[in-house]
Amino acid sequence: MKKDSVIFKRRSIRAYDSSKKVSKEQIVDMLDAAMHAPTAMNTQPWEFMVATDPEAVAKIMKIHPYCQSLKEAGAAVVVCANLDKEFRTPSGGYAIYDCSAATQNLLLRAAELGLGTCWCGIAPEKELMGAFRKAFSMPENIEPMALVIVGYPAENPQISPRYDESKVHWQKW
Ligand SMILES: Cc1cc2nc3c(=O)[nH]c(=O)nc-3n(C[C@H](O)[C@H](O)[C@H](O)COP(=O)(O)O)c2cc1C
Repeated sequence: MKKDSVIFKRRSIRAYDSSKKVSKEQIVDMLDAAMHAPTAMNTQPWEFMVATDPEAVAKIMKIHPYCQSLKEAGAAVVVCANLDKEFRTPSGGYAIYDCSAATQNLLLRAAELGLGTCWCGIAPEKELMGAFRKAFSMPENIEPMALVIVGYPAENPQISPRYDESKVHWQKW
């Protein structure tokens, strides 16, 4: 099997080169990719908070316990759900899935651009979600879902095979 897709090359990056800064154009490119993700009923219920100013970056680092590499990376995107736009059924809401698809698109596009990322969870941790909301004065209808650190990688983690036939159930379980 040919593994030429960026899907097979992306890894979470936790060491960044602080001498290089991610540009606004690169961030817009990644957000464009994020907004091309599939969504339930094509609701596209996302909003993105971009942090590139040192003050905004510092605020995030104060809130999130597992994002210390953000200091060197210098940029982050908080993927948020706009609950007013979410597709809902009596069984529940779909925004978490829509925003996760957007987040993955963002990671893959960053990898294509030669950038490193690390997806740091926010939802479903209520305290963390509340802390982001408060720190960035997000309105009630906005739920922060995922924090994506973006920067120039200063490490190149090994990629090991992951295909596992035991997790695949052909025709029947
Ligand atoms: C929902 C979610 C939450 C995550 N939260 C964190 C986190 O808080 N800190 C972190 O360093 N990595 C976090 N990760 C990254 C995972 O640790 C990483 O994807 C996993 O170890 C597999 O490694 P890979 O991304 O290099 O394939 C998260 C990933 C997902 C999907």
